Amino acid sequence: MTTPVNVTVTGAAGQIGYALLFRIASGQLLGADTPVKLRLLEIPQGVKAAEGTAMELEDCAFPLLAGIDIFDDPKTGFEGANVALLVGARPRTKGMERGDLLEANGGIFGPQGEAINAGAADDIRVLVVGNPANTNALIAQQHAPDVPAERFTAMTRLDHNRALSQLAAKTGAAVADIADLTIWGNHSATQYPDVFHATVAGKPASELVDRSWLESDFIPTVAKRGAAIIEARGASSAASAANAAIDHVHDWVNGTADGSWTSAAIVSDGSYGVPEGLISSFPVRAKGGRWEIVQGLEVNDFSRAKIDASVAELVEERDAVKGLGLI
Ligand code: NAI
Repeated sequence: MTTPVNVTVTGAAGQIGYALLFRIASGQLLGADTPVKLRLLEIPQGVKAAEGTAMELEDCAFPLLAGIDIFDDPKTGFEGANVALLVGARPRTKGMERGDLLEANGGIFGPQGEAINAGAADDIRVLVVGNPANTNALIAQQHAPDVPAERFTAMTRLDHNRALSQLAAKTGAAVADIADLTIWGNHSATQYPDVFHATVAGKPASELVDRSWLESDFIPTVAKRGAAIIEARGASSAASAANAAIDHVHDWVNGTADGSWTSAAIVSDGSYGVPEGLISSFPVRAKGGRWEIVQGLEVNDFSRAKIDASVAELVEERDAVKGLGLI
């Protein structure tokens, strides 16, 4: 049997954790030939619930699941990790200012970055799901100086998938007929879902939908979908977030399908005017285990203004965490 891949999942006892772990164990994260060892990292209060989830995982008798360990200390939780899904985060509670939120998350993602730096495997790949995801990823990455910076990514795949579904519904096409959509910027309400390069069954999407639908329907629907789900479900997106995390890591490891691209928040190399070092969402393809930013796309004035606004928010968040001494 091939050597199992160690997958550390933080926030393992949470909602997304519950929707994610069974899919990882069944082979959907890395592929049907790859055994996995799960390393569940929780805070001490979450350990008992994580033990319950581990019992259920055992009861599935997944042939690819080579072991489950539970930790409440990042130093041990990331030992030997090949893939780390950082899901657990401090949510914004009533009356909490943005600075408090960033500070609380700095207290989580700084030490997790250090633990990854100290103990993870050389090929570690990190996906941050916990919000504010882009800036949490930046904090973790800044605390892991020995890990190549591009191994830290944040999730905008849920936004990408939401955009695909909205465009398919509007044009009456199948999701599979849509190619080359992009989410730019921050995983927040300022994100920019861009259809100007997208095609629907080979036709330019911009010829099938009008500007007013884009501005007053599509963009706000995608950007505010998380809030709409909370309103309807009484709880935040969990299965769809877990699904997007699976898609992100699966593509990163196994490569994106030929031709089309997807979206992921990765370290900027300065492409498209996004300051170098920010973790921002781009159009990306994965090849040979690496993300590459799709180059050479024309950015019209409408898109430019939207990308700039979201990137400005990322710069503000970066400056705020710098100001707080978190990076
Ligand atoms: P949840 O509250 O159900 O679970 C979070 C879990 O994380 C809890 O079990 C908690 O004990 C654990 N946790 C907290 N601090 C931890 C730490 N330092 N180490 C390890 N575990 C820790 O939350 P849910 O619904 O699972 O969401 C998790 C995060 O994902 C939230 O920050 C949410 O905003 C974010 N999210 C991101 C999305 C994206 O598209 N990037 C989409 C949906 C949610």
